[in-house]
Amino acid sequence: MNPLKVALLGCGTVGSAVLRLVEEQAADLTARVGRPVQVAGVAVRRPDRHPEVPAHLLTTDALGLVTRDDVDLVVEVIGGLEPARSLILAAIESGRSVVSANKALLAEDGVALHAAAAKAGVDLYYEAAVAGAIPLLRPLRESLAGDQIRRVVGIVNGTTNYILSRMAETGAGFSEALAEATELGYAEADPTADVDGFDAAAKGAILASLAFHSAVTAADVHREGISSVTATDVARAAEIGCTVKLLAICERVAGEDGDSVAVRVHPAMIPTAHPLAAVGGAFNAVFVEAEAAGQLMFYGQGAGGEPTASAVLGDLVAVARNRVAGAAGAGPSAYADLPARPIAETPTRYHVSLDVADVPGVLATVATEFARHEVSIATVRQDGHGDAATLVIVTHSAPDAALSATIAALREVPAVRGVTSVLRVEGLS
Ligand code: HSE
Repeated sequence: MNPLKVALLGCGTVGSAVLRLVEEQAADLTARVGRPVQVAGVAVRRPDRHPEVPAHLLTTDALGLVTRDDVDLVVEVIGGLEPARSLILAAIESGRSVVSANKALLAEDGVALHAAAAKAGVDLYYEAAVAGAIPLLRPLRESLAGDQIRRVVGIVNGTTNYILSRMAETGAGFSEALAEATELGYAEADPTADVDGFDAAAKGAILASLAFHSAVTAADVHREGISSVTATDVARAAEIGCTVKLLAICERVAGEDGDSVAVRVHPAMIPTAHPLAAVGGAFNAVFVEAEAAGQLMFYGQGAGGEPTASAVLGDLVAVARNRVAGAAGAGPSAYADLPARPIAETPTRYHVSLDVADVPGVLATVATEFARHEVSIATVRQDGHGDAATLVIVTHSAPDAALSATIAALREVPAVRGVTSVLRVEGLS
């Protein structure tokens, strides 16, 4: 049987696992696809750094490899915007189906890439771009295609989940937990993309696009990282039966002018009884709420060579089968065309901890600031310490702008000696 030939772009942790698994599972892949699948070439920048790859496969000419006559399918695991975008477009425009793990590119340019794939009649699959090994995009695209998704809430970054888990376990501050994560290899030497939420925001944009059939880009996502989460925040969360997680929250929000899509990435307190609260260490999990299906949870390894390669290979088998059948699968559509809702107008809830003077009228003054901004208080707790006290307030849902304006106003109240913790809360009844 004539093999299907694959161009592999990039041979780092994921690429080398893909290369090895394609070889090790050759017989099974042949049986599952209906034709052998073979890697025809591996494009890398520095061939001398890849002694594990047979020399005849290595090339530095990625564009030449992608458009080579014998190549049928392209796997892109380079990451970043360029040259990945140009190479994927060249592959698509010359009739090759593409499997990619590139969240940054899909979150920025997914619409254009899908349009190019539809025009060329080829597939563009990218299960590995969000939450590594976890089958998630295909369930959203296919299994839930007949349902109405209301909300997708995910822990989609393992590095930050590891750091927050260690802060909860040990009482450590952010810097100390980050240093440990770096030493153990959970955090990269430059942890910015993970710690500041860029990685999770790209994944949130992809999830929201698929869940709500709308074009959502990373620029539409409100993003806050975890570097300002303190040991006090984590301790305050525990006091109300919560834990702190970096969440990517994608919701369909009803409004007077019609529905919109709100996507935000920020640390939040969630009840320890919530299924996402139990997701510890570097694991990922995504919680989906749909009208008919109800609540679903997807859990597993969100990073790492083999787990990510598993998702890449699943896509490779899917696009290879389509190629054998002489067809291409339907790509995601953005027919709903829901606008992105700014964070200021998105309803959220806050947990606020204040150090105050324990004198008559302080509670009333503080409550007045909430009332003035039309923020309703759900619960208040006071712990006294001599002439000082800590007030812990959990609000009801209100537009985020009203909540942040309330916090700004509280910082100016003389009786408020300090705003010691402010975090959004999710999933509290
Ligand atoms: N750096 C990511 C994480 C994995 O920590 O989850 C790749 O997206």
